[in-house]
Amino acid sequence: MASIEAALWCVVPAAGRGTRVGGDKPKQYHPIAGKPMLLHTLERLASHPCIAGLIVTLAAGDTHWSALHELGGKPVLTTNGGDERSDSVLAGLRALRDHVRDSDFVLVHDAARPCVRADDISRLIAQGIPAGAALLAAPVRDTLKRADDTNHAIATEPREARWRALTPQLFRYAELIAALESAHLARVAVTDEAMAMERAGHKPLLVEGSEDNIKVTTPADIALAEFLLSRMQ
Ligand code: CTP
Ligand code: MG
Repeated sequence: MASIEAALWCVVPAAGRGTRVGGDKPKQYHPIAGKPMLLHTLERLASHPCIAGLIVTLAAGDTHWSALHELGGKPVLTTNGGDERSDSVLAGLRALRDHVRDSDFVLVHDAARPCVRADDISRLIAQGIPAGAALLAAPVRDTLKRADDTNHAIATEPREARWRALTPQLFRYAELIAALESAHLARVAVTDEAMAMERAGHKPLLVEGSEDNIKVTTPADIALAEFLLSRMQ
């Protein structure tokens, strides 16, 4: 894996409100082991040898971002995000226009996933570049139930061939912009980049990633992320 050579920009959507975590500031600024979650995420990304630079999309009027222009010698740019996560990713991509060519690969990684592992990023890049499009993902392990509207199980769904989509996700710059713009025009709400790419006819490769690359979503996840990060130091 050490032989992969790549210099990829990474878009980091960080313009959400973190309503499910709650608190007095958006979750990406919540301290984990004394450091804002977003800084953990950016440091882990910037320390990866294949990452050339980061563009962070911030909510308009964000007062928590502390001017940060580089990390480990790599540029950290910012731009305003949008109402939905996909708007934020698209804004980040557009702001990179002077830094990447259409055929270059770019990564997208949630600010809310501070526990991403370097070896997962390496595997995603090594397998994703030849595949043309890829994402980290984890196969569904639990039995899946379909519920009625009162939360009673009415059926058991097959779990074979079902995966949970994680980030980072890896796509060619112009293909990803086109896919997101097309979904936007069609008013299709895409919850990850791969969904937009699937709509556009691509078949992104599912690269199995570590289950501990959690998306911090609830207050309990903050403590879990702290525990996971403490084990990774
Ligand atoms: N995000 C974004 N722009 C938005 C919405 C979300 O950049 N308009 C980012 C979040 O900051 C986060 C990632 O997308 O890093 C994943 O979204 P999610 O976990 O849903 O975060 P929030 O939308 O902030 O949380 P919630 O849904 O609980 O409000
Ligand atoms: Mg959200």
